[in-house]
Amino acid sequence: MKKVFILGAGTWGLALAKILDSINNKVIVYSVIEKEIDELNKTRKNKNLDVIFSNTITFTKSLEELDSSDVVIFAIPSIYVRNIAGLVSNHLNNNQLIIDVAKGIEEDTLMTLSEVIEEETNIKDIVAMSGPTHAEEVAINLPTTIVAACKNINKANEVVELFRNTIIRVYVNEDIKGVELCGAFKNIIALATGISEGYGYGDNIKAALITRGIAEIRRLGLFLNCHEQTFSGLSGIGDLIVTATSKHSRNNCCGYYIGKGYSIDESIKMVGMVVEGLNALPAAIKMANKYNIDMPIIKAVYDIVNGKDVGITINELLNRPNKSEIE
Ligand SMILES: NC(=O)c1ccc[n+]([C@@H]2O[C@H](COP(=O)([O-])OP(=O)(O)OC[C@H]3O[C@@H](n4cnc5c(N)ncnc54)[C@H](O)[C@@H]3O)[C@@H](O)[C@H]2O)c1
Repeated sequence: MKKVFILGAGTWGLALAKILDSINNKVIVYSVIEKEIDELNKTRKNKNLDVIFSNTITFTKSLEELDSSDVVIFAIPSIYVRNIAGLVSNHLNNNQLIIDVAKGIEEDTLMTLSEVIEEETNIKDIVAMSGPTHAEEVAINLPTTIVAACKNINKANEVVELFRNTIIRVYVNEDIKGVELCGAFKNIIALATGISEGYGYGDNIKAALITRGIAEIRRLGLFLNCHEQTFSGLSGIGDLIVTATSKHSRNNCCGYYIGKGYSIDESIKMVGMVVEGLNALPAAIKMANKYNIDMPIIKAVYDIVNGKDVGITINELLNRPNKSEIE
């Protein structure tokens, strides 16, 4: 039995809490939002998950139990990761297994979130977990696969053991950079598939956006010395397929509203939860410019989000000079 401390009481943190509690770990879920903890203690429910949380899960506003925890999971939106890592840094030590499940790239520094946590806490070998894992399905025990990525493969294997005998099957990967790039930027491609659907286009173009979308993320990743197979793996094309097609995907939904003509603010409001693709856009554009990588779909989404006409942008995307599929 492990003591697991989850930072963040949103849908993903809570789904993981439920799974880890089901195999008798001691699970504590923390949030900086006090009323969220009050609500969870009162109702033991989250409005987006079809589940009642067992009394064995502790919901807390305190970091007291963090120092003695074996496992710490960052399950908060990417833009808050640095702040929370700074807040908890004095409570962490190198014997703990530290996992990041948030998906994003920091806009100012272009660092991955594991690098951000490492910088703030001075803890080595943070593990990034990423893959096709909608919380809504995990919370009701539908089977799921995920990748635990870390340069130190022993740490990734600790995650395999942590989730043994659950509905989450864990693969390991040493290419943490590739896994984190995919996790952050597939959300932008899911915005693109949503926009295209909202605008009235069909499944053919959706398949094209998914295929050419992973091609541009891979192009960036290969330039940064990531492993090619990561992009055809679970955290690459696997996560992109589910994010770009599932009814549970906020990025896809948000894109759909944008494609229908709603403003960005209206679209975010209708989704009602974090839309990480929008957070990841500035970092993606900065990386494409900095390393001179052609990322036309991501650039098109950036232009639309910044007010360019959807029809004109899609037309321009489709009418770029033709090229070979093999690079
Ligand atoms: N939901 C999923 O299915 C899923 C699956 C895999 C990965 N993720 C990733 O996990 C991360 C969290 O997603 P989520 O779906 O749980 O989000 P969410 O919007 O459901 O919840 C986010 C939680 O973060 C915390 N939070 C909110 N504001 C905060 C602040 N200012 N400072 C610190 N903490 C704050 C709160 O506890 C809040 O409930 C995202 O990066 C997402 O991409 C989500």
